[in-house]
Amino acid sequence: MTHIRKAIFPVAGLGTRFLPATKTVPKEMLPLIDRPLIQYAVDEARAAGIEEFIFITSPGKAALEAYFDTSPGLEHTLAAAGKDRLLAELRASNMPEGQHSFVRQAQPLGLGHAVRLAARLVGSEPFAVLLPDDLIRADTPCLQQMVAAHAEIGGNMVATMDVPRAATSSYGVLDIEHRFGRTVRARGMVEKPAPQDAPSTQAVVGRYILQPSVMARLQGVAAGAGGEIQLTDAIAADLATTPLNGYHFEGQRFDCGSVAGYIEATLAFAMARPDLAAPQQAAGWR
Ligand code: UTP
Repeated sequence: MTHIRKAIFPVAGLGTRFLPATKTVPKEMLPLIDRPLIQYAVDEARAAGIEEFIFITSPGKAALEAYFDTSPGLEHTLAAAGKDRLLAELRASNMPEGQHSFVRQAQPLGLGHAVRLAARLVGSEPFAVLLPDDLIRADTPCLQQMVAAHAEIGGNMVATMDVPRAATSSYGVLDIEHRFGRTVRARGMVEKPAPQDAPSTQAVVGRYILQPSVMARLQGVAAGAGGEIQLTDAIAADLATTPLNGYHFEGQRFDCGSVAGYIEATLAFAMARPDLAAPQQAAGWR
């Protein structure tokens, strides 16, 4: 069994669907309630046993890089004021020294290109990829579910969920060979198929556990759909040597890359918090 130690967080996209907010604020720094989106992905990765965090950033994402730093002045002020709870929450967002790195993607040439830039840091071990704008609420964090399943079956693994057939053109979709429990063995994967052409309704969402062979495939992948270097093309090419499994996770996924999905997530997370669901009855909760 291989321990999955490293995770890549591609956060170099332009986030155009949130303009003008994303003119100066990285999409991943938009707050969901009181924490930036990126924090949810980092927490999920940590719960799954990830020890090294690799962020693929781009010009204009300085706020994201600063977010993981310590803030001694602020910590001192909160400590002096006796605001211990806030201090603990602030400190929880600090990234311990030596655990994280930033790799620059100078131009948004696609998700596959972003992942490929981490090849040297990933080396020769399997790794996880998390897209922070796919927010997944689950009793057991999604990546943790996948790591457990991956320990049993190995290969390349993508998180999947069932979508309405009319929506297949927004996702990568698996061509299913057979199913066993929450896992599906795929014989292929199609990027954004029209509903009538979709081989199934099992759509890929932004959690992956990949073998280093995918990195090698990415080196040779040409620009695909939308003129971008697609991660799905490299995973599909790797089927020649590595099985592909979809993992139908338990939980609810919100597309926080879209304004509607972000609002839906905000409402769902707020309703799960006593102070926000019924604030007048929970005064002083914090
Ligand atoms: P999206 O397709 O959501 O693109 O990327 P985007 O640029 O972030 O947002 P829009 O469509 O302009 O609103 C999916 C994920 O891949 C990353 C993004 O940061 C996001 O996490 N990505 C995409 C990169 O890191 N680099 C790229 O070149 C493209």
